This record gives sequence, C-alpha cells and structure tokens, in this order.
Amino acid sequence: MKSYKDGIAYHYLKQTKYDSTSIRRREDFGPIPRPPVYKHYPDLPRINLPRPDFEKTESLWSILNQRRSRRRYTSEPISIEMLAGLLWATQGITLQAPDYQFRTAPSAGALYPVETYLSIHRVSDLRQGIYHFNVFDFVLEEISQGNFADPLRRAAMDQGMVAMGAVLFIWTAIWLRSMWKYRDRCIRYIFMDSGHIAENLQLAATALNLGCCPIGAFYDQDINEVIKVDGEEETTIYLAAVGKVST
Ligand SMILES: Cc1cc2nc3c(=O)[nH]c(=O)nc-3n(C[C@H](O)[C@H](O)[C@H](O)COP(=O)(O)O)c2cc1C
Repeated sequence: MKSYKDGIAYHYLKQTKYDSTSIRRREDFGPIPRPPVYKHYPDLPRINLPRPDFEKTESLWSILNQRRSRRRYTSEPISIEMLAGLLWATQGITLQAPDYQFRTAPSAGALYPVETYLSIHRVSDLRQGIYHFNVFDFVLEEISQGNFADPLRRAAMDQGMVAMGAVLFIWTAIWLRSMWKYRDRCIRYIFMDSGHIAENLQLAATALNLGCCPIGAFYDQDINEVIKVDGEEETTIYLAAVGKVST
C-alpha cells in the first residue's frame, strides 16, 4: 500500500527545503525566461476605475475582529467604487521604486506572479462579463461580455455562493515570473502571495460591510477556459466570492 510519503506533496516539501548548501544549488533547468511583471490586453475595451475613498475607514482591529467567510449574499448590486476599493486593497500600487512598483500585498522578491480576473454579475455601471484587472493603469479590461455565473458555479463544484455573489475574483499565477528566480521553490511563494491578496480582499470587504469567501475547491481547467488563459504558463489558483449581505 502506498503511503503519504509517496505522494507529490511530501516530495515537493522535502525537495524544496532550503539549507545553507541547497540554496546555492540550481536545478539543471537551463535558463528560465522572465515574463513581464504586468499583463495587459492592449486591444480590449478599458473601463477606468474610480480612485478609492480612504477616508471612511473603521479601525483595523475592529475589522480583524469582524472578518468572517460569508457565503450568502443579497441580490443587491455593489457599486463600482466599492469594487475599485476591493481591487486596490488586493494589488494596488503604493510605492514607486526605481525599476518597479510596490503594492498593498507583499510578494516574494517583488515579482508579483498573481493576476486578477473578475466575473461581474451585479456591479452598478459595469456590464456583466469577464474582466482582467490591469494593475499598472488601474483599469479593467473587458475580455468577454455576458453572465458567466452558472458555468463558474459549476466549475467551483456547484458552490452556490459563486453565482449568488455580485462579483467573483479569480486569481491566476504566471509561474515563470517567480520561477526564473526561485526555481522549484516558487510554488510555495506563489501560494503565499495569493493568500496575502485574498486576506486583503476579505479585510477590505469587511470594512465595506460586504460578505466575502475564499474558494480553493474548483475544476482548474474549467475556470481557465472561462477566463481564456492557457492553464500551462498561466493557471487559476484561487477564487473569492463577494456580495452584499443582509445586516
Ligand atoms: C485556502 C482556502 C480555501 C478555501 N476554500 C473554500 C471553499 O472552497 N469553499 C468554502 O465554502 N470555503 C472555503 N474556504 C473558507 C474556509 O472554510 C473558512 O476560512 C474557514 O471555515 C474559517 O472560517 P472564517 O474564514 O470565517 O474564519 C477556504 C479558505 C481558505 C483559506
């Protein structure tokens, strides 16, 4: 009988541990291409996002105390201002360095391998569809028009909150952005990065009195097809539903 020690999780953790000698040893992959830090779709329609209003804030301590994964939402839309605030909280640019930009969430080596897509179901002044968040320009790029709530619910193993939410956040990873530097250890860092982003989303949603739930259970390739990424160089790693909640 096979044991958990035969599985890839065990081997992965074991083989990607650093010690003072292994950190200097490079796997024999040859050179790994370094993709650009920003993805953008120059030919798609763009929607400008309003700058978030930072004044109306509760204390961080109170928001941390209230944060909860909420899975039931009302049918009310959220505003585009709220959506912009959520996006800014997840990956907004906060500091200019000479050659790159820092963001609200930390990222190993400031390499930012995580991209954000949205399935918009009910956001005022924004038509339903799939959008890509262009971090550098703080705009949305419209990939497909239409309501993708049902196919995405099915792709998330029939979790009702996906379709019930006003918006579904879909996070992908462009592995090579991290892998060219961290090699096999990059997988650890990419998932840490996405966890920071998702926590920022939940805290911002809490501050705006919205419900939010992170989702790790989904059929990866079904989501990739909806957002039109190849599943090889770029693949879905995490989701989160957001919507209004009854008070
Ligand atoms: C990585 C990760 C994946 C998760 N996936 C799901 C999911 O697929 N479906 C779901 O209902 N909740 C999911 N959750 C939410 C957890 O169930 C929730 O965080 C946990 O029950 C603790 O509750 P709290 O977030 O309200 O503190 C996930 C949470 C994390 C961090």
